Amino acid sequence: MRTSGLVAAALCAASTSSAAAIYERQGNGSIPQPPASDLAYSPPDYPSPWMDPEANGWQQAYAQAQAFVSQLTLLEKVNLTTGVGWMSERCVGNTGSIPRLGLRGLCLQDGPLGLRLSDYNSAFPVGITAGATWSRHLWNDRGRLMGTEAKGKGIDVLLGPASGPIGRAPTGGRNWEGFSVDPYMAGIAMAETIKGIQDAGVIATAKHYIANEQEHFRQAGEAQGYGFDVDESLSSNLDDKTLHELYAWPFQDSVRAGVGAVMCSYNQINNSYGCQNSKLMNGILKDEFGFQGFIMSDWQAQHAGAATAAAGLDMSMPGDTVFNSGRSYWGANLTLGVVNGTVAPWRLDDMAMRIMAAFFKVGRVVGETEDINFSSWTRDSIGFIQPHASENPAQVNFQVDVRGNHAHHIRESAAKGTVILKNEGALPLNKPKFIAVIGEDAGSNPAGPNGCNDRGCAAGTYAMGWGSGTSQFPYLVTPDAALQRQALEDNSRYESVLQNNQWAAVQGVVSQPNVTAIVFANAASGEGYISVDGNAGDRKNLTLWNSGDELIKNVSSICSNTIVVIHSVGPVLLTDWYENPNITAIVWAGVPGQESGNSITDILYGKRSPGRSPFTWGRTRESYGADVLYEPNNGNGAPQSDFTEGVFIDYREFDRATAENPENTPLFEFGFGLSWSTFEYSNLNVEKRQVRPYNPTTGQTIAAPSFGNASTDLDDYLFPSNIRPIRNFIYPYLNVSSAEDASDDDSYGEEAADFLPPGALDGSAQPKNPAGGAPGGNRQLWDILYTITATITNTGSATTDEVPQLYLSHGGEGEPVRVLRGFERIERIAPGESKTFRAELTRRDLSNWDTVSQNWVITDAPKTIWVGSSSRNLPLTATLE
Ligand SMILES: *[C@@H]1O[C@H](CO)[C@@H](O)[C@H](O)[C@H]1NC(C)=O
Ligand SMILES: *[C@@H]1O[C@H](CO)[C@@H](O)[C@H](O)[C@H]1NC(C)=O
Ligand SMILES: *[C@@H]1O[C@H](CO)[C@@H](O)[C@H](O)[C@H]1NC(C)=O
Ligand SMILES: *[C@@H]1O[C@H](CO)[C@@H](O)[C@H](O)[C@H]1NC(C)=O
Ligand SMILES: *[C@@H]1O[C@H](CO)[C@@H](O)[C@H](O)[C@H]1NC(C)=O
Ligand SMILES: *[C@@H]1O[C@H](CO)[C@@H](O)[C@H](O)[C@H]1NC(C)=O
Ligand SMILES: *[C@@H]1O[C@H](CO)[C@@H](O)[C@H](O)[C@H]1NC(C)=O
Ligand SMILES: *[C@@H]1O[C@H](CO)[C@@H](O)[C@H](O)[C@H]1NC(C)=O
Ligand SMILES: *[C@@H]1O[C@H](CO)[C@@H](O)[C@H](O)[C@H]1NC(C)=O
Ligand SMILES: *[C@@H]1O[C@H](CO)[C@@H](O)[C@H](O)[C@H]1NC(C)=O
Repeated sequence: MRTSGLVAAALCAASTSSAAAIYERQGNGSIPQPPASDLAYSPPDYPSPWMDPEANGWQQAYAQAQAFVSQLTLLEKVNLTTGVGWMSERCVGNTGSIPRLGLRGLCLQDGPLGLRLSDYNSAFPVGITAGATWSRHLWNDRGRLMGTEAKGKGIDVLLGPASGPIGRAPTGGRNWEGFSVDPYMAGIAMAETIKGIQDAGVIATAKHYIANEQEHFRQAGEAQGYGFDVDESLSSNLDDKTLHELYAWPFQDSVRAGVGAVMCSYNQINNSYGCQNSKLMNGILKDEFGFQGFIMSDWQAQHAGAATAAAGLDMSMPGDTVFNSGRSYWGANLTLGVVNGTVAPWRLDDMAMRIMAAFFKVGRVVGETEDINFSSWTRDSIGFIQPHASENPAQVNFQVDVRGNHAHHIRESAAKGTVILKNEGALPLNKPKFIAVIGEDAGSNPAGPNGCNDRGCAAGTYAMGWGSGTSQFPYLVTPDAALQRQALEDNSRYESVLQNNQWAAVQGVVSQPNVTAIVFANAASGEGYISVDGNAGDRKNLTLWNSGDELIKNVSSICSNTIVVIHSVGPVLLTDWYENPNITAIVWAGVPGQESGNSITDILYGKRSPGRSPFTWGRTRESYGADVLYEPNNGNGAPQSDFTEGVFIDYREFDRATAENPENTPLFEFGFGLSWSTFEYSNLNVEKRQVRPYNPTTGQTIAAPSFGNASTDLDDYLFPSNIRPIRNFIYPYLNVSSAEDASDDDSYGEEAADFLPPGALDGSAQPKNPAGGAPGGNRQLWDILYTITATITNTGSATTDEVPQLYLSHGGEGEPVRVLRGFERIERIAPGESKTFRAELTRRDLSNWDTVSQNWVITDAPKTIWVGSSSRNLPLTATLE
């Protein structure tokens, strides 16, 4: 949480020159000065693009939104755009309502793995475990089931899925909320999840846009709370090519999938805050990617009023400047800004259109949205409708059970997302004589599964990261409980020691003959507002927690059948012990959610097919290259995180570095995972398709449409006498008819406050973006240029799944050795059976971002493809003509 006072920085463009720097107005309202010339900057991009009535997939929603928004008054439009304040109503985010037309305030609720601050909901596997399934249909199912649960509680907007952070640094605190460090894979997982959520009738939110790759310094106030003397939030500085080819790629897929909302992030990008960066919101997301939905701020990530509107923000969340300040950059300020001409009326219309179009696109109906039947702020039945102000007591929790039979999916998905890294014949288990389960990570949290606020601890088995991207467990099946049940069924002997500091007892058990020891250990992380054992969101190291490595070493030194199971948010260093022959298997069980024990039992006993690693397991922390910035490096100004590695993160970095030094060879590469059988890859076939040459999009947009006129008489916007104001609630109304007093802003009307960039108010028709033109960008980016097939034959003796992967070299200077461009989880291939792997390469897949033409270009460099079972086991290869 931000703990500092108001940060009244406004985004300003220095001059009309295209090289204009963007910089912050100082809190004291002084005339802005450009930053030191060596700091990265973000160029201005105005005006903010308005919706396209012809946008693919949005035409009907546009027409419905137009019919609705055309009826709205200025105050009603402002109500749609601005949250009513933190804890001012039942959801984590609540917009104002439009009582006159029967629209209740929209309910926005966390998060990417299901419902937070609720009850009788499911706790799904976290993103990284879902990612490790490599299964499009499981991603889609997961989205649909999460959407169904949200709908059942009356939620309009679910605050997920996430592909930011993507996982630049393996220590990044929130990496587990996303699916994969690879943008191609993350993009497909995002798209499938979004389609699932929205098919269930709930708006999905792609987040966090963008380059939100670490927790340290993401919010200056939070960093101050940890004792750092910084006045501004971290700036992630990255180049245009890296942005397009890595960080923005999954967002582009999200837009193409029709996502209704995008959340802008806390951090700055090139020293301009994510929620007021016109280049990223106007230029990339809305213009180039053709995004038609709305952009909401992360909670307290908004730092300016009119400037954020001009830069493309559409919804202020949770609406107040800082939690419970009773003040807002929007609300009354937005009403004033439109009336006094600092915010274009068409911009407000466009905000309202985007919000309502997303609402209609997912099939919601004004006046027919069901009641919200839970409250984030109490588990009691009776509570306040406005909890912060303690107003309107009523039944707020109806304990509606929305879980359905989702446990089946959760168990299957977490099992199929479990990765077997090593197996010397120990697995699958088959009625073992004696099982000894060792380690705190196999048991329960003494405080119960929800004992730590927002899961902010690592006690008991680790089944969820911490922070806002969590949910309440309805129950948590521990590995101990599930393995014991299986052992009893098999008539195995079973003992467990569920603490890491009981060596004498453990020694006595695992030194006995006939024992199969299963050692559980974990590594946790989460969101920056919670620090656990000195890990302020981001992990401070890549080792196991709570003496996990020592426990594994101890057990394996005296037990020749030691199976290691790791629950972790990402890679941990296995280097010291993975080769020990007494360690007969190593299993990464990810972060599995409520069915944890059942899922790991299904894998250990061979009842399910395992997954493949969605990140690399390196030998050292340094071998990953990029890391979190842990100490401020710019005085008390914004810490500067320079993404100098470009696209070389995770396997791209390992492949590059291994070419120079074999010692950088990872232990287990991206895409790796053992299976229950062996597979032969053969018959690579490349079919070239005939397609028309690429045409950059040309022509003009329509001029900004206006929906309704608004009075310029401030008296028309005064607080209605028949409404009793609720404490600290954010309204669209003016308290007094003097603009200056109503704004509650000492610098109201001053030049510095109104310093709007050139073009911000221009509603005339604009040239279309050559790389844009449709949701997801230029339609021809999705032309299929090659179809590639290969035969996958099961040469072993078990029926199981295989995950063939296709990698591409773009060729040329400075490009990665190879990048993922195709994969498929082919299920249940029987011994001796052959199945066909098929991948389609689009123009975008083969292109690089060309910073000069500002478009995607297929370079002349030779293009090579490989097909195999991981990023380093690629038996088939061909050159594309
Ligand atoms: C306003 O703050 C900035 C940055 O702290 C400082 O450089 C400037 O001198 C201040 N201006 C006034 C008028 O106090
Ligand atoms: C950030 O600066 C780099 C280097 O000048 C530039 O390539 C990139 O386009 C900028 N990105 C944004 C979003 O401003
Ligand atoms: C704005 O929303 C608030 C909160 O839901 C509501 O009380 C008020 O009536 C709304 N105002 C208008 C003009 O619809
Ligand atoms: C939530 O439960 C209440 C009370 O049972 C019901 O009136 C309402 O329609 C439910 N909402 C949804 C979205 O099902
Ligand atoms: C308007 O915004 C300014 C910051 O730009 C803030 O200080 C002021 O309190 C806001 N006014 C209202 C009525 O919320
Ligand atoms: C149990 O251990 C004893 C002593 O090492 C050995 O003779 C026997 O074969 C083992 N039984 C099984 C089922 O592993
Ligand atoms: C790494 O961090 C974890 C969690 O704070 C801690 O338990 C462990 O001891 C640390 N490892 C090392 C080698 O310091
Ligand atoms: C490992 O074994 C040593 C004795 O060899 C013991 O002192 C230590 O507590 C053990 N550690 C764990 C985590 O079991
Ligand atoms: C493997 O375990 C045996 C006991 O079964 C022990 O004697 C041996 O030293 C262990 N080997 C290693 C490398 O730890
Ligand atoms: C218009 O209103 C906004 C929001 O209160 C304020 O920041 C700005 O200074 C005002 N501009 C003028 C020219 O009055």
